[in-house]
Amino acid sequence: MIPKIELHLHLEGAAPPAFIRGLAAEKSIDLSKIFDADGAYRYQSFNEFLDIYTAATSVLQGPEDFHRLTRTILSESAAHGVVYTELFLSPDFCGGGDIAAWRDYLAAMIAASDEAEAQDGITARGIVTAIRHLGPDQSRPIAECAAETAGDYIRGFGLAGDEMQGMPADYRWAFDCAREAGLGLTCHAGEWGGPQMVRATLDALPVTRIGHGVQAIADPALVERLAEAGTVLEVCPGSNVALGVVPDWPSHPIARLRDAGVKVTVSTDDPPFFHTTMTHEYDRLVEVFGWGDEVFTELNRVALDAAFCDDATKDRIA
Ligand code: ADE
Ligand code: ZN
Repeated sequence: MIPKIELHLHLEGAAPPAFIRGLAAEKSIDLSKIFDADGAYRYQSFNEFLDIYTAATSVLQGPEDFHRLTRTILSESAAHGVVYTELFLSPDFCGGGDIAAWRDYLAAMIAASDEAEAQDGITARGIVTAIRHLGPDQSRPIAECAAETAGDYIRGFGLAGDEMQGMPADYRWAFDCAREAGLGLTCHAGEWGGPQMVRATLDALPVTRIGHGVQAIADPALVERLAEAGTVLEVCPGSNVALGVVPDWPSHPIARLRDAGVKVTVSTDDPPFFHTTMTHEYDRLVEVFGWGDEVFTELNRVALDAAFCDDATKDRIA
């Protein structure tokens, strides 16, 4: 199995339905409306996805729950050959941006990551993530949580959520705060917002990576700009197909972006929500685009280069 590098995995979005159901039962919370008859997460649109994501997250109520979740998802990732992963972590779900609370939650996630490293051989690092649809004001305490805890484990700052709300420039303060703390920067854009949102993101924010970015394909000049700047796209093809960003795998632009010289990487985003795993993503890329081991080796090299961890960690993993 090729050792895989994953750059784009939302911690809460990686929670298996059975894990969430178990916590809901322990806490007597009725979450039946977010599951279908087979016990899978149920949603019919991106906005419904965001709603049930938030509902599922409501059962995660303290550092111990986040310890269990982190440990669970890292062993799942390791089982699919992932040796290094960057987790999007949301202080909004861990004390709402209160720094003391965030430190407690983070300590639990770091402890679980250390256990996973020792037991499953997977290295994890964190990207603190603000949620766009909560608005620019709320992104400020989240960026401060990121800046205050920047170090060996917290390596980046990002923005996820509904990119149709507000503009990237509204989040400049948060990105500047994180940059001054030495964090790597990434922003979800061009999943839903068209090439113009990727452009607006590159114009307004000092990011080196874009979450998704796949809608850039509609604008050849932008594709050229991404290739020339060496901007890395955290592409999540199975997520895009499941959410309806693209109609099916053959129409996914990942291969065309790569052929145009854009640095692409492969991740799962929120795997149980999209019935995917890193193994499944690789298998589909082989089937649909005929990619061989040499392509995956290149993709993983690009991903490790673009990872936000320090060079000693990269050398250890390479
Ligand atoms: N948060 C979790 N998954 C997301 C996605 N696919 N797009 C935007 N925000 C998200
Ligand atoms: Zn994402």
